[in-house]
Amino acid sequence: MNANSERMIDPSLKNEDSFDLTMRPQRLADVIGQERVKENLRILIEASLKRGDPLEHVLFYGPPGLGKTTLAHVIANEMKVNIKVTSGPAIERAGDLAAILTNLQEGDVFFIDEIHRLGRAVEEILYPAMEDFALDFVVGKGPSARSIRLKLPRFTVVGATTRLALVTAPLRARFGVVFRLDYYDVQAMVEIVTRAAKLLKVQIDEGGTREIAQRGRGTPRVALRLLRRVRDFATVRANGVITREIACQALDLLEIDTLGLDDIDRRVLRTIIEKYNGGPVGLSTIAASLSEESDTIMDVVEPYLLQLGMIERTPQGRVVTRIAYEHLGCAFPKETPSQPTMF
Ligand SMILES: Nc1ncnc2c1ncn2[C@@H]1O[C@H](COP(=O)(O)OP(=O)(O)OP(=O)(O)O)[C@@H](O)[C@H]1O
Ligand SMILES: [Mg+2]
Repeated sequence: MNANSERMIDPSLKNEDSFDLTMRPQRLADVIGQERVKENLRILIEASLKRGDPLEHVLFYGPPGLGKTTLAHVIANEMKVNIKVTSGPAIERAGDLAAILTNLQEGDVFFIDEIHRLGRAVEEILYPAMEDFALDFVVGKGPSARSIRLKLPRFTVVGATTRLALVTAPLRARFGVVFRLDYYDVQAMVEIVTRAAKLLKVQIDEGGTREIAQRGRGTPRVALRLLRRVRDFATVRANGVITREIACQALDLLEIDTLGLDDIDRRVLRTIIEKYNGGPVGLSTIAASLSEESDTIMDVVEPYLLQLGMIERTPQGRVVTRIAYEHLGCAFPKETPSQPTMF
């Protein structure tokens, strides 16, 4: 799991992994939203099954918590194969990768999370493995050294990344399909919250569901986390039933606003507005003024603000838009028409 993906609103992160596991849809039919990705995957999977071939290598990219890991597991379930899970930073040496690859069985899914963080030497082993299902290594030293090629079973790499731009071109080229996961619309979020409430046996009405769905920043993981927090609130402050009113009170207390922005999102916007006159300002400067990691801002905060149209990227840096000013209740600076330069 991507460490940067952890929002600052949940202190019980240790439970996250086991929670994610129980909440994950297992089959493609149970996956909510992402219609285009699902449709393409369905075709890919059916065609492979019909031909009796392993699935082509698949790369998922997009902001954290949208379902990359979930889809990797779904693919393995649909193909009825085993899944081996690892992540870019976990494979330190080429030998580690070779050990995993030689233990794979025909058709297995090899899931590499945060694939943009694979080391150079490791990546080079992966190229022939993905392309020719072969492992090249050198035995012996000096003049007697020989290069040996070991045949591997045909397997499927499923890669996931929050940063497509950091995946090297040769690695990207070895994936048969690349899918971008987008933020979910409110209707899909409502379905996700409804499904999760059922699994968690939480009593929630339509208004409560909609409120959590709307403030879940289009991200299933965030909505599920909000659901758990609101459930806590309902248990302590109400009779355990989540209504719109209870959801609003709980979410207001967590400082999650009506668009799903939380404290750090608002601090980023306010910093650009108050310290940098609305921008343009570079991302690392913003991160430094807030004492936050630039990675967190780049992976988690910025994509959602861009999606809402609250900030824009320009070659000079990030600029806050009128939408953000209005949302925060700040006066939008009057535009001063630029004077033509006279020589
Ligand atoms: N389409 C969906 N329908 C229902 N639940 C979903 C869906 N997508 C994701 N979830 C739920 O959201 C949570 C996060 O999903 P997942 O771990 O797959 O995200 P991710 O994209 O891999 O995130 P990261 O980049 O942080 O690794 C899981 O608990 C999963 O059950
Ligand atoms: Mg993941």
